[in-house]
Amino acid sequence: MLVIKVCVGSSCFLRGSKNVIAEIENLIRHYQLDDIVTLKGIFCLERCSDGVTVMIDEKVFTNITSENIAELFENEVFSALYGVK
Ligand code: FES
Repeated sequence: MLVIKVCVGSSCFLRGSKNVIAEIENLIRHYQLDDIVTLKGIFCLERCSDGVTVMIDEKVFTNITSENIAELFENEVFSALYGVK
């Protein structure tokens, strides 16, 4: 099971983590990954000044938006799950 965590601390929330979560939910549905990818909210990762923070597995990514999450998802989730980039 791959875990994606999106920071929902106040700074990330104000910068749009809710929209990032909605987009990740769409991507999980679109690629039919519901059984192998879990999405969780997480509180402050202490990267507040770097835009919305997302963890995929144990890797931390910053400046995530509802526009750039698809590319990150496709790169990181597929490489974590299937070893492809
Ligand atoms: S609120 Fe998200 S890193 Fe601090």
